[in-house]
Amino acid sequence: MMKSTDIRKAFTEFFKDKGHFIESSAPMVLKDDPSLMFTNAGMNQFKDIFLGFDHPKNTRVANSQKCLRVSGKHNDLEEVGVDTYHHTMFEMLGNWSFGNYFKEDAIKWSWELLTDVFKIDPNLLYVTVFEGDKKDGTSFDIESFKLWENHVSKNRIIKCGKKDNFWEMGSQGPCGPCSEIHIDLRNAAEKSKVDGLQLVNKDHPQVIEIWNLVFMEFNRNAAGLLEPLEHKHVDTGMGFERLCRVLQNKNSNYDTDVFASIIRKLEVLSKMEYLGGDDRISIAFRVVVDHLRAVSFSIADGQLPSNTGAGYVIRRILRRAIRYGYQFLNFKTPFIYQLLDELILSFDGHYKELATQKEFISKIIFEEESSFFKTLSSGVKRMEEIMDQCKQKNIQEISGKQCFELYDSFGFPIDLTRLIALENDFLIDENEFERCLNEQRERSKSDALKEVGDWTKIREDDIQEFIGYDHTKATVKITQYRRVKIKKNDYFQFILNLTPFYPEGGGQVGDTGLLVSKNEKIEITDTKKENGVIVHFSKVLPKNLDSEFIAQVNEKARINTAKNHSATHLLHYALRKILGEHVEQKGSLVNQYYLRFDFSHFSKLTDDEIKKVEQLVNEEIRKGHPLEEERNIPLLLAKEKGAMMLFGEKYGDSVRTIQFGESIELCGGIHVKSSSQVGQFRIISEGSISSGIRRIEAYTGDEADHFINRKLSTLDKIAILLKQPADVLEAVKALQLKNLELLHEIEENRRAVVKQTKLKIEESAEDLGEYTLMYFHTQLTADEMKQISFQLKENKPKMVLLLTSSYNEKPIISLMITEDLVEKKNWNAGQLIRELSKLIKGGGGGQPFFATAGGSDINGLSLIKDKAISLLV
Ligand code: SER
Repeated sequence: MMKSTDIRKAFTEFFKDKGHFIESSAPMVLKDDPSLMFTNAGMNQFKDIFLGFDHPKNTRVANSQKCLRVSGKHNDLEEVGVDTYHHTMFEMLGNWSFGNYFKEDAIKWSWELLTDVFKIDPNLLYVTVFEGDKKDGTSFDIESFKLWENHVSKNRIIKCGKKDNFWEMGSQGPCGPCSEIHIDLRNAAEKSKVDGLQLVNKDHPQVIEIWNLVFMEFNRNAAGLLEPLEHKHVDTGMGFERLCRVLQNKNSNYDTDVFASIIRKLEVLSKMEYLGGDDRISIAFRVVVDHLRAVSFSIADGQLPSNTGAGYVIRRILRRAIRYGYQFLNFKTPFIYQLLDELILSFDGHYKELATQKEFISKIIFEEESSFFKTLSSGVKRMEEIMDQCKQKNIQEISGKQCFELYDSFGFPIDLTRLIALENDFLIDENEFERCLNEQRERSKSDALKEVGDWTKIREDDIQEFIGYDHTKATVKITQYRRVKIKKNDYFQFILNLTPFYPEGGGQVGDTGLLVSKNEKIEITDTKKENGVIVHFSKVLPKNLDSEFIAQVNEKARINTAKNHSATHLLHYALRKILGEHVEQKGSLVNQYYLRFDFSHFSKLTDDEIKKVEQLVNEEIRKGHPLEEERNIPLLLAKEKGAMMLFGEKYGDSVRTIQFGESIELCGGIHVKSSSQVGQFRIISEGSISSGIRRIEAYTGDEADHFINRKLSTLDKIAILLKQPADVLEAVKALQLKNLELLHEIEENRRAVVKQTKLKIEESAEDLGEYTLMYFHTQLTADEMKQISFQLKENKPKMVLLLTSSYNEKPIISLMITEDLVEKKNWNAGQLIRELSKLIKGGGGGQPFFATAGGSDINGLSLIKDKAISLLV
């Protein structure tokens, strides 16, 4: 049996022999593409080439690419685990021609690889070709049909429509007709009943697509129309896990050596059998082992589970796996992290990022699992409360709103709610739940609304040039522009022939500045990179798009940002020196105001560690290391020099390195010319942002000066208030001590006042026949009045205790009536005090035997006693 690692190798070797360059896999998590969160096809990393924004270094390329299809146009999440051939994360084997060979070679080679090299029986294979689409104005792909006829009989070639045989990456962008190779893996008996031809593209678990050959000829524009591309390209993609299933002669992708050992381990952990007969258990196994891969690769690429964007997608995938484990495999504590070793072994050294970050990935998964298990148990508790309430009210159905609350606020999945409801003989209001869910979807849709127009070309330009490392000002021309609408705001975006504007990337924000022509000044509010091109944002469109402009970067913002960026490198260096080599950068933000640096480390930094890190960074700053920049150094050489690289970044063969002293990093950002320009570095906060990840925020340059100055000025003000003592700290300590003594004194005084007042109250007792009245005007707080009232009540039957107070110039009344009077006379202190409080323009309340009231008119206090007596009848 051919091992999966050998299959991967055989694919790349085959295309290497056909003159292809073997490219490494791009990261699965995308950082600089606003239209896509994850790599969803092998061709993503070549999008710029298809769109004509970049020239290919090699016109023939092949590779194995890690992909994730869980959001956007290609979304398989709900299928995963239910069937045996969809995955969240999968590998795509692909070969590409960039304006080089076209249909003939692509078709010939795919057939040769499958039937000659991999020895797949041609009688198992079917191919599809595009039949054309009237609405798009495309016609039947007769060329491919004829080419296939050289290899396969006519009755195995099927014409299919746009849904299956026209490939598009998204709603806009490069696209074209495709031709797919399908395989029929059914046994002879089944084949004799139904012809395989009938089952192609019909979601049959054993008649499946294995390879898609796309012939990229068009670009779909914003209006939905197809425009021909300048060059014709080939983009093929073959599902690696499916190919392994075919070549290893298995019934499902999950039976191949890609998954088998992970499944065995899960059987041991769960003490259950994968294919023991219960479908729900089998599905749970598949969900867990599939999702483990998606989540582990994502973390390895630097995307941790979180509450927004790509991180949220990853959190949802992991939670789906935990939920299946909880519901069907009886796990009540973290288990997925224990499968990581098997996962790493299954790749046999390919994708090294998993093994090198094993400990980190395992800790992150463990923490996520622990917290979601807690969520699940609080969700179960809430569910029990809801069911109790329903029982009390004799209701059989749990409202959709409550199910939605469980789902939305507790992260409690609806099918679990459904299951628990069912087990307890409850129904759930599915329609109302759907309504709530849809309302939420609509809300988030309108929040994320983005409309993108087509680029309008103003002038031909080959490749845009970035000159921002050396210049902040240049004479430029606009080559293309378009209109975009983001969350109801209109923007214009420009591409310039050359630009000094740095586009957001590597944590550094995009430059802002001006485009100035003879008669106009346009503000550039942001700069970003999209599909390899630098895009400048503005609120307005220049009147004369043809003019020459002076592009002027906001220099003050730029230099302050550069200081923060260089300091970030020194901080990274210092953290590794002081805390250890396990510190890896996990995210950063660098702008003109401050810097933010996220890194892996598992405990809070002590004050001493923070001081040491700060000191080391400042020492490095003061050493005045000159910036040593290599713009174009081979990646291997940079590695040899020990340059820090980030996981989840795709580096080309030649890279840029930035060095200040011993700190050396691969980096595309803007830096100061000498470390001394950073001025000084001050950490302003240190904390945790998720398990295993700490965040440091810091100031440099002017901001650090302001920070220190603010602190010094506070200190000066304190010294002035304290009348300039020789030692401010000692003076403050003495003040605190004095304050404490005074507080004690006050407390003692209060105790004396209370004691005296209590005596006076007792002396005030008057026998009014039906009851004894104690009335006294005090200077007590409401609390003290209450305390005394409760003390005096003891062993005093038939007593009414009425106290007033003007403590702090505010009128207060309290009224205590002993229980015997409450019972016999039906008096109620709470009601009575509401009447009394009118006299002091206030309000109050309480129980029948004790109540208090506060007000605003102190003069009313003198009337309280008479009024109370008049009411107590
Ligand atoms: N882009 C095509 C696909 O994803 C072929 O690689 O199927």
